[in-house]
Amino acid sequence: MNKTSPVRPVCTKNNARAATGAVRILPVWNGAAWGAEALSPEDAAALSAWLRKREFKGEAGATAWPQGMSAPVLLAGVGASGDFQPVRWFRGWAAAAKALAAEKAEAARVEGSVFDRLPEGAPGREALARLMAEGLGWGAYRFGKLLGEGGKPSKPVAVECTGGDFEEAGVRRAVEKGLLAADTLNEVRDAANLPANRLGPAEMSAFAKKLAKDNGLSCTVYDEKALRREKAGALLAVGQGSHRPPCLIRLAYTPAKAPKGLKPRVLVGKAILFDAGGICLKPAKNMEWMQYDKCGGMTVIAAVLLAARLKLPRPVVVYVPVAENLPGGGAQRPGDIVVARNGKTIEVLNTDAEGRLILADALTFAADENPEAIVDVATLTGAVVIALGHEASGVMGSCDGLLSALDAAAETAGERIWRFPMWEEYAEPLKGTFGDLRNMGLPGAAGTIAGGQFLKQFVPDGIPWAHLDVAGTAWNESATAWAHPGATLSCARLLAAWLEAAD
Ligand code: BES
Ligand code: MN
Ligand code: ZN
Repeated sequence: MNKTSPVRPVCTKNNARAATGAVRILPVWNGAAWGAEALSPEDAAALSAWLRKREFKGEAGATAWPQGMSAPVLLAGVGASGDFQPVRWFRGWAAAAKALAAEKAEAARVEGSVFDRLPEGAPGREALARLMAEGLGWGAYRFGKLLGEGGKPSKPVAVECTGGDFEEAGVRRAVEKGLLAADTLNEVRDAANLPANRLGPAEMSAFAKKLAKDNGLSCTVYDEKALRREKAGALLAVGQGSHRPPCLIRLAYTPAKAPKGLKPRVLVGKAILFDAGGICLKPAKNMEWMQYDKCGGMTVIAAVLLAARLKLPRPVVVYVPVAENLPGGGAQRPGDIVVARNGKTIEVLNTDAEGRLILADALTFAADENPEAIVDVATLTGAVVIALGHEASGVMGSCDGLLSALDAAAETAGERIWRFPMWEEYAEPLKGTFGDLRNMGLPGAAGTIAGGQFLKQFVPDGIPWAHLDVAGTAWNESATAWAHPGATLSCARLLAAWLEAAD
């Protein structure tokens, strides 16, 4: 288990042991600093004066170092208006971690009394402690290993969680789980942030095999030959424009004591290591970001890894189709008709709509697992960025129960997803002229739903299925208050919460 998080929350029993000079972190919600009771009366008075003067309301991600305290205090905004939102709570702690690292703080502390004033409708203490730890561990992560001196990791900052609710076993366990989740995500982020010259299909499958070996997962990689045997014609067609052949990774987590007959939850993640668009070449501007077109695959890998490390009671299977979408001499052409693994023929009208092609074949493998449900994750459409920007991932699917479960998991994980409609009329434009399907709908019309409707054709009726379009959330192009640029693995914590949920 790699300790990849530069800021590390740990529960300590002994209050007195807290490092002298440790920064005290106080979340601020709607203008009130939670846990301020732990300050000396003088500091508490100075802080409330400072809050009023600066009108610091606690906008999520805003941080401040109030003046006039006898010991350093870091304020972390977790919401300035309206309802309490877990996503803002997570971002606030992540921003606090970033601020601690930026200031080169040596140690920090959080008082158990931060949970004393939870508003109505807020999650419980354990859930909030988990999210706090996830945010602290995730927020300061930075992809620095390809930088020179400046990228050297500095000494990890320990954040001591002491007293009050941190004395409770459940809360302490929640902090441990949160740090474990952050460490797991950061470990996978180190691979997700590799540019395409450093991570080809071979390196990606080596990465998956190594993770599997170290964490007790089973791993199978279908190479090009195996994919041909499996008649995975859509995945092969996308990969044929690159010298580096495509593959399909299968990872499986089987809990130690799974009752017989328990069906697995199956996750599928798009991993295009670089999406140049193929023959329908993308414009040069911003094309470098298409190295992040593998993030759906990285996200489901993080989710199954977390399931294994948390020893969740349910079996989980993951499929990651891996390819590069390049315009090489062997590349597929617009107008080509390819045959997917389930026998459906697809007219490739736009080679840049490649994600749905590789997922089509992977979904048929997923369906063969006799799954309880399938959820796929993909940076599938630019259109989802038009619809939702970078604030939420798009979600759509075939089963209300599954979609509600994912909404609940998003709330638990402090992530945002937003539902798109899937009326069958939206599938109409996908009907082919010379093949069963075409790989794009009407230009400029509901592109995200068209992507979802296409994928739906590869999931047999009766299997609950949902699709998460993370094109707007999978990476940051510039720093935010709560993250450095690069892969976010959005929806990985959501999926873990779904895998962890009792229902
Ligand atoms: N990987 C892209 C989607 C994407 C675009 C992700 C921008 C993140 C930012 C995907 O393969 C793609 O190219 N989709 C096309 C589909 C279209 C040709 C039907 C798109 O969205 O333009
Ligand atoms: Mn594309
Ligand atoms: Zn793509």
